[in-house]
Amino acid sequence: MAILVTGGAGYIGSHTVVELQNEGYEVVVIDNLVNSSKEAIRRVETITGKPVKFYEGDISDAELLDTIFKEETIDSCIHFAGLKAVGESISKPLEYYSNNISGSLILFDAMRRNNVKNIIFSSSATVYGDPAFVPITEDCPLGEITNPYGQTKAMLEQILTDIYKSDNTWNVILLRYFNPIGAHSSGTIGENPNGIPNNLMPYITQVAVGKLEKLGVFGDDYNTPDGTCIRDYIHVVDLAQGHVKSVAKLKENPGLKIYNLGTGKGSSVLDVVHTFIEASGVDIPYVIKSRRTGDVPVNYCDATKAKEELNWIAKKNLFDMCADSWRWQKNNPNGMI
Ligand code: NAD
Ligand code: UFG
Repeated sequence: MAILVTGGAGYIGSHTVVELQNEGYEVVVIDNLVNSSKEAIRRVETITGKPVKFYEGDISDAELLDTIFKEETIDSCIHFAGLKAVGESISKPLEYYSNNISGSLILFDAMRRNNVKNIIFSSSATVYGDPAFVPITEDCPLGEITNPYGQTKAMLEQILTDIYKSDNTWNVILLRYFNPIGAHSSGTIGENPNGIPNNLMPYITQVAVGKLEKLGVFGDDYNTPDGTCIRDYIHVVDLAQGHVKSVAKLKENPGLKIYNLGTGKGSSVLDVVHTFIEASGVDIPYVIKSRRTGDVPVNYCDATKAKEELNWIAKKNLFDMCADSWRWQKNNPNGMI
């Protein structure tokens, strides 16, 4: 039996394919390569020494999905495929709703048609908005979402919940990721954003490698110990292992489950900058800028539920995350080419 991984050539998907293959799972990937390259799949194969069955295509291609379900023996799906840039989603809402919502509906329908009713979905801490409390448990009420990207996560959570309610032979695991950073310790796969990065770690690594001059720190007047925003950064390999544990959970027919995947520890923007300098030995010049619209001051999770029910904890610390992000960027200054 194989696991269908949508978006498996992407940042989190490629790391998850590595961990799944290392655990002996058979993996089939579908990816349209809109934000990734086939090279990622080749590098995954080099890391694991195992071939990856790869279909280049779109999750909105129902015919292709039927072909995959007929040709492969798939029993579950990990659904990563989607567009994920918050800012871009505000200027291109139609593209985001179309790709993320319509594409996912076509995928879910194909799953139902082919009697594959086990799914793990990549959701995000963004669904909590400005959280009602920290550390955030899964019971924390969903908050106000200020961008179409985040809306697609909340909507897809609701759609999968409604599918489960209508037919409880489905098993649905909604994973709410906090802030994934880091890279595989081989330094061969990692995050490779197009253009100027929006997210903190890729921006820092591009400053470190000399592609960008200095980091702008968005606000130092928040009500936090050093005035900068606090996030729950999680190593992408820990996150990937959370998916492997979730696949095992699916075998228990759990019904509908929601888990936070984070470390439970908050770090400020300046904590990340200083830890990166320590881990890399490279200075990161920065300048304080005004606050970025929509930023939540403090966001970190309580990961107890994932520990108790998935037998999963994040093992790597911020230093590991910085060291691995740096190794990846240093070895691949221009990404996967
Ligand atoms: P990514 O862009 O690196 O990976 C997504 C992959 O999906 C890419 O390889 C892209 O080519 C593919 N894809 C997009 N639309 C597709 C479509 N219609 N058909 C087929 N393939 C398609 O992003 P990532 O960081 O690996 O994120 C994976 C998932 O996790 C996404 O759903 C994202 O929203 C979610 N997530 C990411 C973060 C984060 O900070 N990286 C946080 C929370 C949730
Ligand atoms: N930051 C800077 N300078 C930069 C980039 C970011 O100071 O150049 C700061 C931000 O203001 C924020 C922190 O670094 O305080 C982290 O910002 P990121 O953009 O890396 O991450 P976010 O927490 O804003 O967003 C992430 C994901 C989203 C997801 C959201 C909520 O990128 O997809 O978490 O889970 F929706």
